[in-house]
Amino acid sequence: MSTGLFLTFEGIDGSGKSTQARLLAETLRAEGREVVLTREPGGSPGAEEIRKLVLEGDPDRWSPETEILLFTAARRDHMERTILPALEAGKVVICDRFADSTRQYQGASRGDRRALVDALHDLMIGREPDLTVLIDMDPAKGLARAKGRQGTEERFEDFGLPMQEAMRAGFLTMARAEPQRFAVIGGDAEPAQVAQAVLDAVRPALP
Ligand code: TMP
Repeated sequence: MSTGLFLTFEGIDGSGKSTQARLLAETLRAEGREVVLTREPGGSPGAEEIRKLVLEGDPDRWSPETEILLFTAARRDHMERTILPALEAGKVVICDRFADSTRQYQGASRGDRRALVDALHDLMIGREPDLTVLIDMDPAKGLARAKGRQGTEERFEDFGLPMQEAMRAGFLTMARAEPQRFAVIGGDAEPAQVAQAVLDAVRPALP
């Protein structure tokens, strides 16, 4: 049994969740807590290599099934090498995206593959976060922000506004289905205000 706290941030591209994950990590560290801030896909050397494979290049580079396998492989490595050891050491793990992203992006965006995503998750991951912060954001605003970044990791942003809208709706549906695990926070306000709302939601779960 682990003793740490496993927190994840989810949201559409450009929702500000990475900023919020970082601000939360800084606040908790300033309180003297041991925090591991990590991300998916990635978060371990092997999973970061898989990140490049899945986020760069042509949107049709992988079949939907291969893509699910790659994200799950990255997550398995990240769990083994980063997340579980930190939780066992009693740390707070803050992860920027996790399995809910696979449920949405791979499970719903190119046809309904949710059953496959869930089966692989049960087989290979088998663990949910203690708390998931969903940063909810207007899809057009989120996409404009994400596009403004000009990186090479554009495969999913390249799918455009209709996909972002579907992803937002999907995340909100998941949050409604598991209200005890999710905290939904509006991402439109100033980052400091959003950060305070995040902290208020996380505080009761802290060890
Ligand atoms: P990021 O922009 O939050 O770093 O996420 C990178 C992209 O990866 C984002 O467009 C969503 C996508 N993604 C998936 O499609 N499935 C997943 O399981 C994860 C973790 C991310």
